[in-house]
Amino acid sequence: MMDITQILTNPRYVLALVVIAFTIWYMRRKRYSKPLPPGPTPWPLIGNLPLLAQKNVSVHKVAKQLQGKYGNVVKLQAGPATLIFLMGNETIQKATHEMDNKFKYRPNNLFGFNYIFKNKGILFTNGDVNSALRKYALGTMREFGVGKRSLEERIQEEARMLCQVLESKNGQPNYFMNNFKMAASNIIAGIVYGSRFEYDDPIFKRLLSNIDIVFKNLTPILPENFVPLLRFLPGSKLMKTEKHFKDVERYTRTQIEEHRATFDPENVRDFVDMFLKKEGSGDPAMTEDNLHRVIVELYIAGTDTTANTIVWGILLLITYPDIQKKLRAEILKVVGTERYIRLEDKHNMPYLRAFMNEVQRFSAVAPQTPPHTVLEDTEFEGYTIPKNSNVFLILFTLLHDADVWGDPDNFRPERFLNETGEYVELNKDSFIPFSAGGRSCIGKHLARMEFLLFFGTLVQKFEFKAPPGADLPSLERIQSGVTCQTKPYDICAVPFSQ
Ligand code: HEM
Ligand SMILES: *[C@@H]1O[C@H](CO)[C@@H](O)[C@H](O)[C@H]1NC(C)=O
Ligand SMILES: *[C@@H]1O[C@H](CO)[C@@H](O)[C@H](O)[C@H]1NC(C)=O
Ligand SMILES: *[C@@H]1O[C@H](CO)[C@@H](O)[C@H](O)[C@H]1NC(C)=O
Repeated sequence: MMDITQILTNPRYVLALVVIAFTIWYMRRKRYSKPLPPGPTPWPLIGNLPLLAQKNVSVHKVAKQLQGKYGNVVKLQAGPATLIFLMGNETIQKATHEMDNKFKYRPNNLFGFNYIFKNKGILFTNGDVNSALRKYALGTMREFGVGKRSLEERIQEEARMLCQVLESKNGQPNYFMNNFKMAASNIIAGIVYGSRFEYDDPIFKRLLSNIDIVFKNLTPILPENFVPLLRFLPGSKLMKTEKHFKDVERYTRTQIEEHRATFDPENVRDFVDMFLKKEGSGDPAMTEDNLHRVIVELYIAGTDTTANTIVWGILLLITYPDIQKKLRAEILKVVGTERYIRLEDKHNMPYLRAFMNEVQRFSAVAPQTPPHTVLEDTEFEGYTIPKNSNVFLILFTLLHDADVWGDPDNFRPERFLNETGEYVELNKDSFIPFSAGGRSCIGKHLARMEFLLFFGTLVQKFEFKAPPGADLPSLERIQSGVTCQTKPYDICAVPFSQ
């Protein structure tokens, strides 16, 4: 028997191996009618993970560099998984237009996501389960408020609670991020359970901390996605995530049980009740497992994203006091100081709407979508996207595409106003911070309601300033996990005396 060193030291064998390897590679390559997208050369086995798994990596920054070098469709290798980045206005719009027949699926080859989501819920399912639950969640959110009075009142109430917290600090510097997370997550609680938490409730704090940890760790570049065995090493992020996910699940289960005990089909109170009513109706998606998975997903998808957008907005108000003044002037003109802002006020508040759009565009809080996939080798933009690739729409490169926006790095709400100061849906199809097509965000309308009422109320009641003597906030985007955040920064919220 010849051993491996003998083979590797014999030039003839080595040559034969090289020829065989080349032939295999060449034949594989020949399978595609169109070339694979370009991208940086992958290392053996690990692929481009060194590029993607750097400490504190900002996916959107790496993507931008790759776009400059390779164009709008780029292929990367993360261990065995193929990642495709779609970038820029034209390419992303084409992808969203073809979403339903090409890209609407989520991949099922990322170990960590399968391990946590177990093919249940909305975020990481496909086909009938995803459609049924999306439809149910959207329908029920509409039923319990989106666009209706009751939810409007809940958000107004939460805005008042938030104002109380800010007032209690009396203009002293504070990083209010956690308060904004509490407010955002209480809105979800209102829809789902019909109730809200007090901000000092220890159960609430634990729930939020769990959600935070899950959200931060469960990213596409989680190492266990590609090398499942890593979960057995001490300090595995996947195991940590699972522990906190389970804790949220336990809480959700007790809530569902309480609802079950007091359920009255004639008086449907909230999202959970609606589910209990549909359960057993024959729809295979209406199972308790799916219910609490959806609840956890609404919390995860709706807390960090919304709170971060509010913090970005406040930081931008501090950076641009003139914009803050204009916004306040509009609020005083339309709402005054006596009452709270209502949803219907938006028709008279072009500047507030333009401001909200520009905050979302500038901050690009969701700089990329979660992964999509293709079920077959798929031709797109002159390339072959190989079957089962993880396809990411890098929304940042669209929201900051210079061809669309001209000066994307400037914060300029006026870009959404016309000469007479009226709100215009400029570049409507390029302004898609929630993505677009059959997999787009189901919380879009809810989030927009929250921004209107929260920003409106906060600017009505407070002047936001940098702490005395402090530099203006940095507007650098920090990507930790899935979202883009600001650097932590103390805010002074000085109440206007009534
Ligand atoms: C600023 C706030 C938010 C932003 C920027 C945002 C952004 C996004 C984006 C970019 C996606 C991925 C779409 C795609 O894959 O093409 C998404 C999906 C999703 N979002 Fe949001 N979102 C926000 C708030 C919310 C809220 C408040 C909720 C809950 C009510 C929510 C629930 C979801 C769900 C369940 C999905 C998965 C949809 C699916 O896979 O079928 N989001 N969101
Ligand atoms: C990474 O981020 C953490 C938390 O934001 C920070 O403490 C740390 O200094 C950063 N590390 C590097 C290498 O930038
Ligand atoms: C953005 O992409 C769309 C769709 O491909 C295209 O119609 C539009 O002209 C593009 N906008 C700019 C400014 O290039
Ligand atoms: C601005 O937009 C409004 C509403 O769409 C329209 O009525 C008005 O004529 C526009 N003004 C200019 C100068 O384009």
